[in-house]
Amino acid sequence: MIIAVDGPTASGKGTIAKALAAHFGLPHLDTGLLYRAVGRQVFLDGGDPDDGGDALAATSFPDSLLDDPQLRSEEVGGLASRVSIHPAVRQALYERQRSFATQEGGAVLDGRDIGTVIAPEAEAKLFVTASVEARAQRRFLEMRERGAGVTLLEIQDDLRRRDERDSKRAVAPLVPAADAMIIDTSALGRDEAIAAAIEAVTQAIS
Ligand code: DC
Repeated sequence: MIIAVDGPTASGKGTIAKALAAHFGLPHLDTGLLYRAVGRQVFLDGGDPDDGGDALAATSFPDSLLDDPQLRSEEVGGLASRVSIHPAVRQALYERQRSFATQEGGAVLDGRDIGTVIAPEAEAKLFVTASVEARAQRRFLEMRERGAGVTLLEIQDDLRRRDERDSKRAVAPLVPAADAMIIDTSALGRDEAIAAAIEAVTQAIS
């Protein structure tokens, strides 16, 4: 069984995908991490994330980079959003995601285009979303815990910019698959969001 979990930054899709993987006993891939590794590698190479050639070269990042704690930073998130608009970058990362999705026994993948491009045949597709305000507030609390000195307004602006770039790009934009179940986590706590997702997947596969 393939479970596709898509949605914008800080919607809670990562938390939900991990919980679904644990509940259904499936391996999980956070595909955003692959784009983040490309963004980080462009930076390490001194390249330009908006240049298709530089970004494509960075797709051959070493696997060890996936363990770099820097990948979770807002800066690298912004770079990831920029490199992800290049079709050649998406193509280069496709096979890796596709083989993870189609492994025997199934998998949970979270990202932006899992239900539309990577695994359109997924048995269960969730589109996890939340208002910009709710997402910014969560990200703000997370960042404050890590000691990062960013304001709520800066985070809101950054989320809006990233949503716009992710939704308007020509290739594999962030849109719910026609058959995706929408879960809005704006007013839900962590456990409520997880329970809603488990319920939706259970219904989809029964
Ligand atoms: O989910 P995230 O914030 O870690 O993703 C970082 C960026 O990577 C996001 O702004 C867009 C890109 N991305 C993508 O284009 N396709 C995916 N399947 C996952 C992430």
